[in-house]
Amino acid sequence: MSELSVKHLLGIKYLTQADIHLIFETADHFKEVINRSIKKVPSLRDITIANLFFENSTRTRLSFELAEKRLSADVVNFSASSSSVKKGETLIDTVNNILSMKVDMVVMRHPNPGAGVFLSQHINASIINAGDGAHEHPTQALLDCYSIREKLGDVAGKKVVIVGDILHSRVALSNIFALQLLGAKVKVCGPKTLIPKYIEKLGVEVEGNLQEALEWCDVANMLRVQNERMDISYFPSIREYSQQYGVNKTLLDSLKNEIVIMHPGPINRGVEITSDVADSKQSIILHQVENGVAIRMAVIYLLASKIKHHES
Ligand code: CP
Repeated sequence: MSELSVKHLLGIKYLTQADIHLIFETADHFKEVINRSIKKVPSLRDITIANLFFENSTRTRLSFELAEKRLSADVVNFSASSSSVKKGETLIDTVNNILSMKVDMVVMRHPNPGAGVFLSQHINASIINAGDGAHEHPTQALLDCYSIREKLGDVAGKKVVIVGDILHSRVALSNIFALQLLGAKVKVCGPKTLIPKYIEKLGVEVEGNLQEALEWCDVANMLRVQNERMDISYFPSIREYSQQYGVNKTLLDSLKNEIVIMHPGPINRGVEITSDVADSKQSIILHQVENGVAIRMAVIYLLASKIKHHES
């Protein structure tokens, strides 16, 4: 297969296993490119991409922008805090104004679940979801699975536990879909109040005890507590949360297997993981960030190929 089955990347749930393998193989090529002295290829000189960020971001935004520039695309950046959205303009009006400037592809982060799907039904450009509320963050899940494949050789058959605030996490949902599609076994672990009631319907087991979860797994993906999405208190205190669901070096060293530690960032050091765990040789957190550029280059390149194919 040399083409994605989709025109947009709205969520992992719309992808096939073959799509993910194609993205990984394309990312392997781009990873080699970004490690050369000249890190750029001319592939997308005729493509213009708008990055629309209606919510804060460091990694995803910079990673998309770097990926686009490494592919030689023209790039425009939009941030809600400094735009006319503040004057009451709707999402569709904002995006249609941007598209009138002949934009081919839109990368969008938005606080509302389904914002990318909504946009894809109303505008004629390829949409990449860079995180929509607590729904999906597909490129994060792709780079997470790619990093597991790089570290452990394959995703199939691996045991992955996702720890922390599953309820408010788009990273958790996209990871569950991607890991299962690639043949991994997935458990979640966290306070009962932060585990969604539907989770077992997704084929995911719940483990309440962190030590048991870590003894079971090959990989632990530690999530941040999403305070910005909480309007009530879901656990008694941060101190109690980190005592029960945080990983420190003593706990890590007590496990019988040398597990891999992942985190999508931003990290709250001392809450979900201590600094010595984040910076330990078992942590692949910065490899995840590095792989994010190659994965996003692959996604953009493959979606742009579909636009070009459609036009010719
Ligand atoms: N992992 C992630 O989405 O980080 P940012 O919010 O900084 O983009």
